[in-house]
Amino acid sequence: MIELAPSILSADFARLGEQVRAATEGGASIIHVDIMDGHFVPNLTVGPPVLKSLRKVTKLPLDCHMMIENPDDFIPAFAESGADWISVHQEACRHLNRTLHLIKSHDCRAGVVINPATPVETLTEVLDIVDYVLVMSVNPGFGAQKFIPGVLHKMKQLAEIRNRRGLNYRMEVDGGVALETVGDVVRSGAEILVAGNAVFGEGDPRKNAEALLKAAMEAAMIRV
Ligand code: DX5
Ligand code: ZN
Repeated sequence: MIELAPSILSADFARLGEQVRAATEGGASIIHVDIMDGHFVPNLTVGPPVLKSLRKVTKLPLDCHMMIENPDDFIPAFAESGADWISVHQEACRHLNRTLHLIKSHDCRAGVVINPATPVETLTEVLDIVDYVLVMSVNPGFGAQKFIPGVLHKMKQLAEIRNRRGLNYRMEVDGGVALETVGDVVRSGAEILVAGNAVFGEGDPRKNAEALLKAAMEAAMIRV
């Protein structure tokens, strides 16, 4: 099943509730929230108070993508503020197993994220404890960057491992997903599509989400 998770990074923060509602009307079923600390990535975004406000305006799962150092220090606050899913970067976690269990202990779904330069092999020992794997298709830090097609082979690898080991994590992709790239992304096997600029960049988020999902569904029908 293909799901669209609009990233609010490109939304108008003064009209966040309205924009999230519009994207939801267009078929979005998860809201992706990018948390950046100015250390792990060269940008700053939002923290728990914004999650708390979002929690009041949507029933959709809030998918927190933590691009921060020492995520363990903040996981409890994000969980208490309404996060449903929390993903952490493999590259940012010294004790990845511990961090993933910490997320689960707060009743959130636990995800692990890999940057474009990080191979799937680094996840071998945690794939049996994660609910989802997020493959970055840009170097994290900013919205509206150019899609890196070379990461798509990771989807096939992840699908093969899932099958072989009888696991059930879901596969998410994040960065540069747009009308021009969504076909390749879906055909590679991605199941959860994060899109920021393509939904909130220009025009009506509802129409943008609809168009993106339509293109994704069409590609899924001819997925090989
Ligand atoms: C990048 C973020 C993404 C970003 C995606 O660091 O993790 O979620 O907002 O934005 P687009 O879809 O514009 O590449
Ligand atoms: Zn993200």
